[in-house]
Order: sequence, then structure tokens, then C-alpha cells
Amino acid sequence: MAKTVTRYVCQSCGTVHRRWTGKCDGCGAWNSIVEEIEAAAPGGIGAGSRAKGRKLDLASLSGASAGPPRRSSGIAEFDRVLGGGMVPGSAVLIGGDPGIGKSTLLLEVAARAATECAAVYVTGEEAVDQIRMRAARLGVADAPVELATATSVRDIAASMDAADGPDLVVIDSIQTMFVDTLEAAPGTVSQVRASAQELIRAAKKRGAVLLLVGHVTKEGAIAGPRVLEHMVDTVLYFEGERSHQFRILRGVKNRFGPTDEIGVFEMTGRGLAEVPNPSALFLGEREESGARASGAAVLASMEGSRPLLVEIQALVAPATFAAPRRAVIGWDAARLHMVLAVLEARCGLALAGRDVYLNVAGGLRVAEPAADLAVAAALVSSLTDSPMPDRAVVFGEIGLSGEIRAVSQMDNRLKEAAKLGFESAIVPKRQARAGENSDPRNGLRQKSIGHLAELLPLFETPAGQSGIRAGSRGRG
Ligand code: TYD
Ligand code: MG
Repeated sequence: MAKTVTRYVCQSCGTVHRRWTGKCDGCGAWNSIVEEIEAAAPGGIGAGSRAKGRKLDLASLSGASAGPPRRSSGIAEFDRVLGGGMVPGSAVLIGGDPGIGKSTLLLEVAARAATECAAVYVTGEEAVDQIRMRAARLGVADAPVELATATSVRDIAASMDAADGPDLVVIDSIQTMFVDTLEAAPGTVSQVRASAQELIRAAKKRGAVLLLVGHVTKEGAIAGPRVLEHMVDTVLYFEGERSHQFRILRGVKNRFGPTDEIGVFEMTGRGLAEVPNPSALFLGEREESGARASGAAVLASMEGSRPLLVEIQALVAPATFAAPRRAVIGWDAARLHMVLAVLEARCGLALAGRDVYLNVAGGLRVAEPAADLAVAAALVSSLTDSPMPDRAVVFGEIGLSGEIRAVSQMDNRLKEAAKLGFESAIVPKRQARAGENSDPRNGLRQKSIGHLAELLPLFETPAGQSGIRAGSRGRG
């Protein structure tokens, strides 16, 4: 008879405790420890048998190797994030906030893939009717996708192992699945781990693509232990502001391709539409409004290998309270404080007594340091109430002494800007190719800047009244 053991497992970090406690020793989380019962482990290698291991066949590092075969999902943006298509026998975990569109995306993937191979969509969260309604809304109701509502991993694995099993399996979501040999409730660390393990085994055996939906915790990590991310081949996050239309699919781990790719989608009334040219989406409203406003700068940023033009907006206003307010949306608040401090200390701008608001238009989150110079430009533009030079993009990292540092992939940034009709670029001096001349390859005029102070003359009013210096607080 199998012996059972009771363990107390922290649900946030996976630490195993001998007895229940209120606080986890491993991660310090409160009230995260849950009792789990499982069959006693059979013991380590050699515990029961004396069988000897076999010597491994070792191979050399060099030698011919074919890239993995790929299967297109029919959605170019999805394929791009995966590194060129889905790899048979691989497991992909897709995390994201509730309601962001994971089920919508995967139903579309299954529907498109179903024309080429056998696709099964297993849901543990919704009824078949709900999926059908969604499919009708997406206009894919005729696709030969097979649906199932199931939560038992044993049944799902048996269906995958069957002779007429599927080539693509969507599991929505891994947190609702359970393995019946474990006593723990679905969604607990050990259930999530065991379910994923079993499904991955079945997918590898068959050479099927396994797409797992994973819920995220309040903190934004995929619920369950980190081990889930270690077990799968690829981890993608589907993100975006619920109040905005666009969604970004971002790779964070990929055993078969780069992780810095993003796929951009737009949530429409008829499902997710691909956005092959995201810059146009993020700058769309700017084009419509036409007029050049102060306090805005267009950043030529990079998301992986993909250039993305976004508008950075700043508002510098007289402080309403003794302690000025600094509010940031879409960028790192600590970096804003750094840019403000450098503008103040190295360029003599009077910012201490002013409220500062910063926004990345369109609800995008920008993380790269190349945004520093665009943020500084937007701040100075708002402070001086004079717009940026017309049709100009800007990028560069700011150092603490005010120097402008080089950024990666300058050519790609410039090419994208030229493609969208921009005429000049404010770039780090070290990288400027032909000084201030236009680059024959993309036709952009380059204004190169070596120090942050060189940005200010672009904004000072023609009359020479530099009302922006700390000395003269003329402007309110
Ligand atoms: P869903 O895919 O269920 O999100 P998740 O599985 O990540 O929880 O749906 C997300 C939202 O998208 C839902 O609030 C409704 C909206 N939506 C549309 O705007 N258009 C559509 O065509 C569909 C199917 C959903
Ligand atoms: Mg869902």
C-alpha cells in the first residue's frame, strides 16, 4: 500500500515546511502555506534497485544541426514572438491579467491552425456555449476546432495519447487542471506542477504543440511556483491597459528563439486584429490633432528587434502644494526623478518648485533608457511652452553628469522614423554618423547632442529670453 506524506507548501515560493506556520520562512509571505498530501516518493536513484547506469554517448559541440521544424499559427504576430512559428512538441505558457484576451488569442490561434492540423481547445473555465459564442464573434465558428470542457489531466492526457490525438492543444487554464493522484486542490503549487508535467509529457510524446494559459498573481507573476516557467519551453506575457485597445504579446523565455520580440494586437469588436505597423497606431492621434503642442516629444524606441515610435507627454506646472507632485504613467518613476535632477543640477533648470506629470501616450510601457532624452525634451518643451522641432524624433540615454550616451540599434530607429515621415532626429553625439548632415541612407537630418545642456537651445525663444534658468523665475 502506498504510504502518504503530508507536507505544508508555501503557495507563493514553493518552500516545503514540516508543519503549518502563519509565515513562510522561505519568502516571508503570510498565510500562504497549504497542507498537501501525496504518495510518498519512491526514493532516489538506487534506493530500490541496484541497476547500474549506462555510459552516455557524448557528442561534440560542432556538427550539423537542423533548426526545429516550425508550424505557422496563421497569425504572423504570434509566430514572430515564438521566433518564427510553433515548434511541434514544445510547451508554451501564456500569462496575462484576467480579461486581457488570452482566451480570445488562443481560440484564434486554434481556429487558424485547425485548417492545417488537428486542434483541440480544452477549457476548464468556461462552458462550450461560451466558447462557441466567442468563436461566432471572432468569425471563426466554421473552423474545425474540437472543444472540450475538462479539468482532469488524466482524461486530457489519454485523449492526447490516443491514435487520432491532436497536433495542437490549448489548455485554458493550467490553474483549473488537476491530477487525481494528488489530494491538493486545483491551482495549488503541487497540482499546477503535476498537471503541467503530465501535459508536457503527453505533448512531447506525440509531438504536439501545447499552449497553456496561466493566470497571473496580483504582483503580475504567473500564479503557482516559478517551476512552471522552468518546465515549459516558452513563456509569453500578454499585456496591455484594459482601457486601451492595443495588446502586446511579449516573450520572456524561449528555448527556440529570441525573447525580445513583441507582437502587437488591437482588441476590436471582432476579436484581436494584428498590428503590423505599431508606430502608426501609437502616433495616430498625434497625426489627427495636427497642431504642434508643447510638452510632447516622439521617442524612437526599440522593442526587441522592432522599432516603435511613441509620444512622450510632459506637463510641468507650478506646484499647488509645498511638496511638488511627480506622477508618471508608462515609465519608471525613479528614472523621471533622475532626469529631473540632472536637468536641475547640470542644466540649471528650475524644476524643484513645480509639479511634473509624465505620460507615455497610448498606454504603452516604455522601459529602455533610450527614452531619457525624449523625456527630457518633453519636460523642457513643457517648461518653456515651446514645441519640439517639427517632425523630429529623439532618443538617447542620459548619464548623471548630463552626458548623452549611445543607444543600441540606432539605424533601425532612424529607418522607422523616416518611414513614418519624420525629417530629423536628435541623437547621441557619439553615434551621429555624418555630424549634422543628413544620412543618405534614410534621409533624416541628424542633430547630435553630447550633453543635455545642448538640448536647451532648441527650445529657447528667439528673443533670447531664456525664462527657464533657475536664476530667473519669470515664468510660472
Ligand atoms: P478573454 O479572452 O476572455 O480574456 P482572458 O481569457 O485573458 O481572461 O476576453 C477579454 C476581453 O476582450 C473581454 O472583456 C471582452 C473583450 N473582447 C472584445 O473586445 N472583442 C472580442 O471580439 C472578444 C472575443 C472579446
Ligand atoms: Mg480566459
